[in-house]
Amino acid sequence: MNIRFAVESDLKRVNALRRQVNELHVKGKPEIFKPGFPKELEDHVYTVFRDPEQRIAVAERDGALCGFAVLHHIVRPETPFMKVRDCLDIDEFCVDAAFRRQGVGTALIAFVRAYAKERGFSRIELNMWEFNRDALAFYEAVGFKTYRRYLELPVSENGEER
Ligand SMILES: CC(C)(COP(=O)(O)OP(=O)(O)OC[C@H]1O[C@@H](n2cnc3c(N)ncnc32)[C@H](O)[C@@H]1OP(=O)(O)O)[C@@H](O)C(=O)NCCC(=O)NCCS
Repeated sequence: MNIRFAVESDLKRVNALRRQVNELHVKGKPEIFKPGFPKELEDHVYTVFRDPEQRIAVAERDGALCGFAVLHHIVRPETPFMKVRDCLDIDEFCVDAAFRRQGVGTALIAFVRAYAKERGFSRIELNMWEFNRDALAFYEAVGFKTYRRYLELPVSENGEER
């Protein structure tokens, strides 16, 4: 397997993987995610590619691009409550359905860790949707720990609990 940073000609294939993630999100959280993969979403990867604060890592096996990760350097300024926070955020992450459970995701994370270390980041962060238990099992398997949660309480139109 070869893990490297993307070149522009990879982005079409990266979009095919982004579409898989979008479909998963639409299925798991239809009240939040918009169905389909419009041009706006397709074009987003080119904006990411050109942003100096973001990098796209890709995994290749036997000449097939089978996984990717979007890495984003994020600086959250100091607030009255919190210290300044500087981290490498994994914004998007996917392994092609046909290549899962073959160590591709693990290899991508190893690449991201090495990059984070080389660049002097002290932590890697990501956020994910709670319904996505497979992703959680994966992230925990490669060493991530939950440090914060988003909670929701659905309320019906008359204000009562559903
Ligand atoms: C989550 C995902 C990235 C995992 O990638 P992967 O290449 O299949 O992961 P690996 O093969 O490296 O798995 C490493 C370990 O993680 C755990 N793991 C991975 N997928 C799992 C699953 N579906 N269920 C339970 N554990 C899982 C296992 O412990 C696995 O080791 P094992 O196969 O020896 O049991 C992949 O399933 C995926 O792309 N899913 C759809 C997109 C997505 O959810 N992205 C993340 C949210 S934005």
